[in-house]
Amino acid sequence: MLPSLYIFLQTTPVPKDIPLPLPLPEWLLIILLVVSFLVHILFVNLMVGGSILTLISQIKGLKNKDYDTLAHEIANTITVNKSMAVVMGIAPLLCINVLYTIYFYSANALTGLMWLAIIPLVTIAFLLTYLHKFTWKAMENHKAIHISILAIAVLLFLFIPLIFLTNINLMLFPEKWGSIKGFISALTLPNVFPRYLHFIFASLSITGLFLHWYMGRKNYPFENLFTQLTRFELKKKGYSLTLVASLIQFLIGPIVLLTLPSKGIGWNLVFIIIIGASFAIPAMWMMWKGINGNEKTIDKDFYKVVILMSITVVFMGSGRQIYRANSLEKHRELVRLKTEEFKKIKKEALTKEKEEKTKEVNMSMTLEQKGEKVFNQYCSACHKPKDKLVGPPITEMASIYKDNKSGLQNWIKKPGKKRPDYPQMPSFETQLKQDQLDQLSAYILTIK
Ligand code: HEC
Repeated sequence: MLPSLYIFLQTTPVPKDIPLPLPLPEWLLIILLVVSFLVHILFVNLMVGGSILTLISQIKGLKNKDYDTLAHEIANTITVNKSMAVVMGIAPLLCINVLYTIYFYSANALTGLMWLAIIPLVTIAFLLTYLHKFTWKAMENHKAIHISILAIAVLLFLFIPLIFLTNINLMLFPEKWGSIKGFISALTLPNVFPRYLHFIFASLSITGLFLHWYMGRKNYPFENLFTQLTRFELKKKGYSLTLVASLIQFLIGPIVLLTLPSKGIGWNLVFIIIIGASFAIPAMWMMWKGINGNEKTIDKDFYKVVILMSITVVFMGSGRQIYRANSLEKHRELVRLKTEEFKKIKKEALTKEKEEKTKEVNMSMTLEQKGEKVFNQYCSACHKPKDKLVGPPITEMASIYKDNKSGLQNWIKKPGKKRPDYPQMPSFETQLKQDQLDQLSAYILTIK
């Protein structure tokens, strides 16, 4: 064996899988996982990006009333997006649980407390966003407190995804499980922070497009809400945010790729990522043109931009799944072998136990008891102990063959025709072995 492989096997826990079939074909579960995850993360992005922008706008709003209004308007979208994020998060969680049961479980168990802390943290963050949204008027004269409420929510919103990301990352590295002691040490795996930054800038990028659309809609009463800020300016701001965040992604993306442990990197992954990224380039160019154009032309390519960016996102989401599949491939093979070995050992143990049990039963039973069993199996349909049934009772047999064991056995093997009012008894020569005949005769001859 290669030394590196040997070390890998020595230090890597290889649990056995649960030997149950998947509820759906694997390919279908993978598609469901990727698609439902993308829908979920879209709303997570809008929730995180929206809360950051609300905070920035509200702080700016201390000097400029329009920005306070803007903050309020974005705040109204956060709670909706957050609900969608949570609901849509259930599907990928279920899929990943079924597809990667032992990996997901192990990662969650290793970061146990922090993983469970997600529930209270999410609850607090949500309550804070509602509190913040509904006390806009009431807290008008307490802006510092009002902004602090949001700031805490933003911090929580920034932290919660880090827990998810750390676990999803940790599950890919079974070889590290032995040395990971809780959440903090899982954070130190090489690519956690680059991946996290990639997520944050994706959030800003997507939120920029969202605001461009949301506040640019024809039936959105923009002009009634804002005094100085114009629709055109806001659309430009949305595009600029998306453009800048996307440019930064072009810097962070390669860092993510380089810090990913090499075991999961294959040409298939690099290929998917390059194709995905290349769709973003024309979109960025269109946004750039939009920003530098005028009020009439800024919307011209909006849907194209959305479609191109969506394609990028789908490719990145698929790349994520490819990396996972690549990096777990070897370990899953080991788990498969282990599971098979376990099944084999279990089967062997069961047959051995069964054999020993029958042996024990055989040893503990007397010859007569065994004979009674054979009798009940083969003879009791026609013979009863004391009364006539089809044939004569056992008591009669016992008195005829008293002291004549071989005579009895001969009859059983080749019954004659004796009693005129009885039918012929069938022969048992081929069905019964000699030891069974001995047991039978021992039983019959003890009956009085
Ligand atoms: C299908 C019914 C049937 C079964 C099963 C059957 N017997 Fe009989 N047996 C008879 C009949 C009927 C007679 C009486 C035959 C006669 O007298 O001609 C008889 C008679 C006998 C006799 C009396 C022989 C004699 O010399 O008078 C013995 C002993 C006997 N059976 C033993 C057995 C044993 C042991 C088995 C089980 C291995 C068995 N029988 C299964 C129908 C059956």
